[in-house]
Amino acid sequence: MDTMKSARKDDAGEVGSDLSEQIKAATKDNHVRAENTQLMLSYQKGQITLVQYKVLLCSLYEIYKALEEELDRNASHPAVAPIYFPQELARVESLERDLEHFWGSEWRKKVIVPAATQRYGQRLRKIGRENPELLVAHAYTRYLGDLSGGQVLGKITQKSLGLISKDGLSFFQFPGVSSPNRFKQLYRSRMNSIELTEEEKAAVLEEAVLAFELNIQVFDDLQKMLSVATETVNQPSDRFPAAILRSSPILQYTVGLCLALATIGVGIYAL
Ligand code: HEM
Repeated sequence: MDTMKSARKDDAGEVGSDLSEQIKAATKDNHVRAENTQLMLSYQKGQITLVQYKVLLCSLYEIYKALEEELDRNASHPAVAPIYFPQELARVESLERDLEHFWGSEWRKKVIVPAATQRYGQRLRKIGRENPELLVAHAYTRYLGDLSGGQVLGKITQKSLGLISKDGLSFFQFPGVSSPNRFKQLYRSRMNSIELTEEEKAAVLEEAVLAFELNIQVFDDLQKMLSVATETVNQPSDRFPAAILRSSPILQYTVGLCLALATIGVGIYAL
C-alpha cells in the first residue's frame, strides 16, 4: 500500500496545498446542503420508503454508468490512472443486481430518471470526452461519499425497508475494500499525487462543487417527482374515480408517477 500523506490541517488550522484537503474544504458547505436535502433528511430519520429507494437506485445507476464508462475510457490518462480502482469501487454491477431485485428481470425497461439525472450524466460524458482531469472531482464526490456516510445509509436502508437479508443492498457493499477508512486514506494520497497545473487544480475544485450541486438537484428532482405522485393520489381528479384509485395501490402509484413525469420532464431509457 502507498505511503499515506495525512490530510490534516496545519497548526494554524489552514487548509494545505494537497488536493484532498482543498477539495474537502471547497465542498464543505455543499456537503451540508446535500445532507439537508429532503431526501437525505428522510434517510437520516429512517423514513426512506421502498418507492424512494427504488427511484434513487435508477438515478444512481444512470450516474455510475456514465461515471464508470468515462473512467474506463480514460483509465490511462495521467489524471485518472492514480484514482482508477474498478475492482474496489465500481458500482454499476452492484446497482444492476439491486435494480433486478426490486424492479424484476425486466428492470431495464423500467428505469426512470428525472431531468437532473440526465444533466448529471451529460456532464460526466462531456468532461470524459473533453477534460478527463475533471473526472477526479466526480469520482471523489461519489466514491468517498459512498465509503463515508454511505455506509451508515446502507444500514438505515436495511432497517427502514425491513429487509431481512442483504439482497437489494449490494450498492452499499464494497467487498474489495476491507477497511473504508484505510482505503479513503489511500485514495486521498493518490489524489494528491496527480500532477495538475494551478489552473487545472482550480477547475477540479470548481467541478467538485458542481458535482455536489448535481447530486443535490437529483435528490430535489426525485423528491418533487415523488411528492407530485403522492399529492396526486391523495387528491384524485373527477376524471379518475377515487374509489378505483384507492382500491389499487399500483394504479395510484402509476397515475401519480405519470403526472409527476409529465410535470418535471423525465427521461425514460430503454437500455
Ligand atoms: C445523509 C446524508 C449524508 C451523511 C449523513 C453524510 C455523512 C458523512 C460523513 C460522516 C463523512 C465523513 C466525514 C469525515 O471523515 O470527515 C462524510 C464524508 C463525505 N461525504 Fe457525506 N454524508 C451524506 C451525504 C453525502 C452526499 C449526498 C454526498 C455527495 C454526493 C457526500 C459526499 C461525501 C464525501 C465526498 C465525503 C468525503 C469527505 C473527505 O473526506 O474529503 N455525502 N459524509
